[in-house]
Amino acid sequence: MKVLNSFISQRFKLLVVTAISLLSFSSNIYAEGDKAKGEVLFKANCGACHFPHKDMTGPALKGARQRWIDNSSEENFYKWIKDSQKLIGEGDSYASSLFNEWGSVMTPQAVSDEQIDDIFAYVDGYEDVTPPPPPTGGPGGTDVAEESSNAIWWIIAVLLLIVIGAVGTVRGNLNRVAKVEAGEAVNENETLAQGARRWAWDNRGWFGVTMLLVVVALLTAGMLDLMKIGVFEDYKPEQPIAYSHKLHAGDLAIDCKYCHNAVTKSKHATIPTVNVCMNCHKTVTEGTTTGTEEIAKIHDAAGWDADTKSFTGVTKPIKWVKVHNLPDHVYFNHSQHVEVGGVDCAQCHGDMKKETVARVMTTADLNAVEENKIKFSRPTLTMGWCIECHQLSNVDVAGSHIDGASESEDSYYGVIHQRLMKDKETYQKYLEDDVISVAELGGWECAKCHY
Ligand code: HEC
Ligand code: HEC
Ligand code: HEC
Ligand code: HEC
Ligand code: HEC
Ligand code: HEC
Repeated sequence: MKVLNSFISQRFKLLVVTAISLLSFSSNIYAEGDKAKGEVLFKANCGACHFPHKDMTGPALKGARQRWIDNSSEENFYKWIKDSQKLIGEGDSYASSLFNEWGSVMTPQAVSDEQIDDIFAYVDGYEDVTPPPPPTGGPGGTDVAEESSNAIWWIIAVLLLIVIGAVGTVRGNLNRVAKVEAGEAVNENETLAQGARRWAWDNRGWFGVTMLLVVVALLTAGMLDLMKIGVFEDYKPEQPIAYSHKLHAGDLAIDCKYCHNAVTKSKHATIPTVNVCMNCHKTVTEGTTTGTEEIAKIHDAAGWDADTKSFTGVTKPIKWVKVHNLPDHVYFNHSQHVEVGGVDCAQCHGDMKKETVARVMTTADLNAVEENKIKFSRPTLTMGWCIECHQLSNVDVAGSHIDGASESEDSYYGVIHQRLMKDKETYQKYLEDDVISVAELGGWECAKCHY
């Protein structure tokens, strides 16, 4: 007993020691400064002139401490930040070379040594997160849950086969024993295939039912896969600029079509080019929440020098990450829905005036918009979603938009009605419920949506 006790307490001590050393290890990481505090300080004091990872008005700050240790001293590093001109006056050669190279004065910064440590904990730990490309196979992509549900079906199928095999072997042996006892002939030289066939025949009831179950299970798995339960919903990738729909489309009340200006004319709504942003951001150089940091990215992209107020000619397109992503085999056309069908953006994209960067709205988000006439039950962007809306959207008998605006006879719907009227019987059938749905017009035909 004593031995056991001491063994346990030994183990316990070991555990405690390990835990403590682990804890102290993790607190070590932050011994040189607090990243979170550093980020705030950086953005408030340095972000107007510096990026952590690339040059702006001043040099990229990542690795700056090391540069000072290598070329001057760590002590001067702190001095520089607090008053760069004073250090230059003291004759530090690295300080002078920096000033000559960059040619503009770094204003004295009212920060303590400790705050500088915090800032550089953030700066040196900064990773340039270029937003990852949307996973293949659609936005949100072939998600993990989907794959694991598939895997489960395979496991079930394999297990079933093993069970069948095991039951078969046992029953086969029992049969054999029974046959031998009854004096019946037993073919000892039977090949594996012959044995399997005989076994399947002997157990045909059992075998049939099991195989049917396996087939049904696999088919169900396949169907679920096709219906892709909500894999697109709520996909909200990080974007290169902290753009806000709430601010621009909401507070500033800029029309959706001002930026997404192809939406009424073409298949695509398109993302605005940087020139559209520059219409305002040549003069608006500072935002309330992000200061100049985010808008500077627009200037970078447009090749605009905010100081000299001129274009440098060096542009680099903003790499917005696509949020809505139908598979290539699907045909969707904006102008058909927005212009011809008269469907409002909010019906499919929800209340964008409350969002920062875009996301794929969930069915609940779409249904929550009061003005939306169509209430969905199928996950956004899935085939079920398109189909459901085509059934629920009616084209008025009078030949009008679903929003009720009347159309003349030679209008888009007018022409369709004229054509339909030629086949009175079908037309009557369509009209039985007093409405013609998009589905009845052909919105359920595979070829309308699939190439
Ligand atoms: C008004 C613009 C401005 C602000 C604000 C500013 N800097 Fe600078 N910084 C510069 C410029 C410009 C240089 C290049 C040297 C020069 O021209 O004087 C520089 C250089 C530096 C260097 C030397 C880099 C190297 O490669 O060795 C460090 C370190 C530095 N800044 C840190 C900071 C920190 C930390 C802050 C915020 C607390 C800050 N700066 C705020 C403009 C600024
Ligand atoms: C009937 C539903 C529907 C309506 C109405 C609709 N959209 Fe879309 N929108 C979609 C779908 C579906 C996609 C994805 C298209 C793709 O991946 O090919 C999309 C994609 C987009 C994109 C991404 C760029 C592109 O063209 O693929 C933008 C921007 C956009 N919509 C803006 C708008 C705006 C603005 C309106 C209103 C003027 C609007 N949409 C109306 C369904 C709709
Ligand atoms: C019609 C004018 C207009 C257009 C076009 C415009 N913006 Fe703005 N934007 C503004 C105004 C005004 C503000 C400042 C609001 C404030 O006071 O914070 C602003 C602020 C911002 C901010 C800073 C937000 C903050 O609070 O810090 C960012 C980032 C931004 N815009 C990005 C963009 C991008 C990207 C585009 C192009 C796709 C764009 N803007 C197009 C008018 C515009
Ligand atoms: C000032 C310009 C501007 C205005 C106004 C604007 N947007 Fe956008 N929109 C953008 C930019 C920039 C992006 C790309 C960044 C993102 O995904 O949020 C975008 C993205 C989108 C997307 C997702 C595109 C994709 O990749 O699938 C949709 C949907 C969208 N906007 C709808 C709207 C709707 C609806 C309105 C009106 C309520 C609107 N936008 C108003 C600039 C604008
Ligand atoms: C909000 C309801 C709504 C949703 C969601 C919707 N549609 Fe439609 N769709 C309509 C309406 C209304 C029309 C009729 C417009 C017209 O007459 O051309 C239409 C027409 C079409 C047509 C033309 C049909 C024809 O007979 O010419 C195609 C193709 C189409 N939609 C594809 C899609 C695809 C693909 C999706 C899903 C990604 C989708 N739609 C989602 C409402 C919707
Ligand atoms: C109103 C538009 C529409 C019509 C009509 C339509 N589909 Fe689709 N279909 C879609 C969309 C959108 C997707 C992609 C959604 C997804 O991946 O979840 C899709 C996906 C599919 C897929 C799955 C491919 C994959 O990536 O998993 C198959 C198979 C398919 N459709 C077959 C058909 C057949 C067969 C018909 C005719 C009976 C048909 N579709 C009619 C819009 C439509």
